[in-house]
Amino acid sequence: MSKNGSGLHIVFTGAPGCGKGTQARALKEKVDICHLSTGEMLRAEAAKGTPLGSEISALIDGGNLVPDEMIIKMLSSRIEEDDCKNGFILDGFPRTLPQATVLDELLEQKGIKLDAVIEIQVPDEIIMERILGRYACMTCGEGYHDKFHKPKVYGVCDKCGGTNFYRRIDDNRTTVQNRLVNYRALTYPTIPFFEKKGVLCCVDGTGTIEATSKKVNVILGITQ
Ligand code: AP5
Ligand code: MG
Repeated sequence: MSKNGSGLHIVFTGAPGCGKGTQARALKEKVDICHLSTGEMLRAEAAKGTPLGSEISALIDGGNLVPDEMIIKMLSSRIEEDDCKNGFILDGFPRTLPQATVLDELLEQKGIKLDAVIEIQVPDEIIMERILGRYACMTCGEGYHDKFHKPKVYGVCDKCGGTNFYRRIDDNRTTVQNRLVNYRALTYPTIPFFEKKGVLCCVDGTGTIEATSKKVNVILGITQ
């Protein structure tokens, strides 16, 4: 397995709110490869207020997945960009079996093997508490939590000093329940797919952010 940097190709998967984005950002600090969150990419498109953006907003706000063709097109062109040539961390993709199959084919064509698909395992009752307390910096996107991960100085982002924060519209109880239903029906089947490929690594994500990061680093052979 690659160590401490170039050539790493990682997928973080798991239920909504399990900590994919948090762990992806922590890993990026260590290995400096591209972090691609399909949720962030879709929210950026939705914010444009175009007809496509409105269609995406409606799906996200209801806790439903966007169509496979749309997300596959978006992701497959994104990983061709220069900043992905030393590797990438996928956060929130693939989320269905068709997406997993296309990723597998794309990487095979490029002669790339995934280093690991890391499933962060967290039970539903913890997930709800994590999502309902979540907020993020409007300037740099750093994620925080009302109880579990507060900025060091109240109201000031640790990363960029920003003072404006936002909460996601889909972070409400009803939408989270639907996101969990969709996770089980559509995303969970990708787990045995990756297990058969020999790249699945499961991590207990119920501990602190730092404890989970340590487990991820052990899996990836990152010692620093
Ligand atoms: P996306 O943005 O990917 O949402 P998600 O899967 O629901 O995941 P989240 O971002 O909610 O959670 P996370 O696992 O990143 O947790 P986080 O690290 O923030 O997708 C949004 C929507 O876009 C989807 O519903 C769908 O509509 C669409 N979409 C996206 N990708 C798609 C695709 N491939 N196909 C089709 N549609 C797609 O952590 C949560 C909170 O907990 C934070 O506050 C954090 O500080 C805290 N926390 C994290 N870890 C810990 C810990 N160990 N202990 C205590 N607190 C913790
Ligand atoms: Mg996320």
